[in-house]
Amino acid sequence: MYENLNKISKFVIDNFVNISNYNDMNFELTEEQLAVKEAARDFAQNVLKPGVIERDNLQKFPAEEIKQLGELGFMGMMVSPEYGGSGMDTISYVLAMEEISKIDASTSVCMSVNNSLVCWGLEKYGTEEQKQKYLIPLAKGEKIGAFCLSEPEAGSDATSQRTTAIDMGDHYLLNGTKNWITNGSSASTYLVIAQTNVEAGHKGINAFIIERGMEGFIVGAKEDKMGIRGSDTHTLLFNDVKVPKENRIGEDGFGFNFAMKVLSGGRIGIAAQALGIAAGGLELALAYSKVRSAFGKEIFKHQAIAFKLADMATEIDAARLMVHRAAADKDAGRNYDQSGAMAKLYASKVAMEQTVEAVQIHGGYGFVKEYHVERLMRDAKITQIYEGTSEVQKIVISRNILKD
Ligand code: CAA
Repeated sequence: MYENLNKISKFVIDNFVNISNYNDMNFELTEEQLAVKEAARDFAQNVLKPGVIERDNLQKFPAEEIKQLGELGFMGMMVSPEYGGSGMDTISYVLAMEEISKIDASTSVCMSVNNSLVCWGLEKYGTEEQKQKYLIPLAKGEKIGAFCLSEPEAGSDATSQRTTAIDMGDHYLLNGTKNWITNGSSASTYLVIAQTNVEAGHKGINAFIIERGMEGFIVGAKEDKMGIRGSDTHTLLFNDVKVPKENRIGEDGFGFNFAMKVLSGGRIGIAAQALGIAAGGLELALAYSKVRSAFGKEIFKHQAIAFKLADMATEIDAARLMVHRAAADKDAGRNYDQSGAMAKLYASKVAMEQTVEAVQIHGGYGFVKEYHVERLMRDAKITQIYEGTSEVQKIVISRNILKD
């Protein structure tokens, strides 16, 4: 009994310490952060919105739009200027992700993978040579990156890697298949996770930088998806690809930890994407409710609709607070595994539920493509799946709150 009490008081103390860490809690955005938000909103409304329905219909990758995002500094937002980035904080990044995702989640997933998985991973763990050669063009948006962990039989169970990279002395020989790879055909630089020592389990996994065009590297079939249809999701095949030794990231055996660390930050980006999708649905539903009349008055004057809007706004605000808290944790150097996982779990649930409500408020118009909300509803679903399913987030959260 006393042991249990001790555990409970330790939990309370840990959490009190956590809460007291938020002395710096501040709901005001800086002028710089507001300017980033405004620039992202402007870009989304004026550049992304006009072609978003067509890109979704045709499954067309937003190549020109991504190029422009790069020129504006949105593809390497948190990378230091020394390596071609914008040197911004994570709060600015989630603000931009929210605004872009309100309009086009296919564009924002490309942006998120490039920023949080590829650029952040290279800046934090890459060698100086790797940063000079690969990070700078990625951070400037001149090239696009992809992160390759998932396999046909290794999704949530990410340690079950079948892709192998055999040490041949002066190089590694890479063989295997990666699935559902975002930016699959548009990327030039791929971070590929592979097993180098099967006996060592996850400690025998490494991460490698693979270049488009390396012999034996084939971009396979494109997925025909329910949502984020403008994003190019592919199978990748590696047949005896010779990988230079200097393309391994970190110490031998660091690959799985690398993937986990990178994904912890990635989850904050996807949480912000989910938040944006939900907030985009609310903006559309609010606007529609003011122009659509039924039973002699605008529909927002009916309590049935007003209460729906109130619930949507409340849920979305809660998700935003969680996303910003996780981003603030990262900026302050605090651990963000748990707050990032919680933000993704909650924001993706809000995105799914509240985009259904946005469609409902639009009635029949919500079911047709012209009104945008049906796309948001389709796009929302993937936020509960990629960069760790909601069930994986619960594994991360429960392990964090239960650890001694
Ligand atoms: N940071 C650093 N290391 C971590 C870590 C973290 N956040 N989480 C776990 N690790 C380490 C552990 O410490 C352990 O290493 P040691 O033995 O050296 O201590 C090692 O990783 C294995 O950890 P677990 O025993 O916890 O591993 P597990 O098999 O139980 O799996 C898991 C844990 C959380 C379920 C993990 O497998 C996981 O996150 N799965 C989901 C994978 C995922 O998110 N895939 C997304 C694909 S990428 C994508 O979607 C991008 C896109 O295109 C949009």
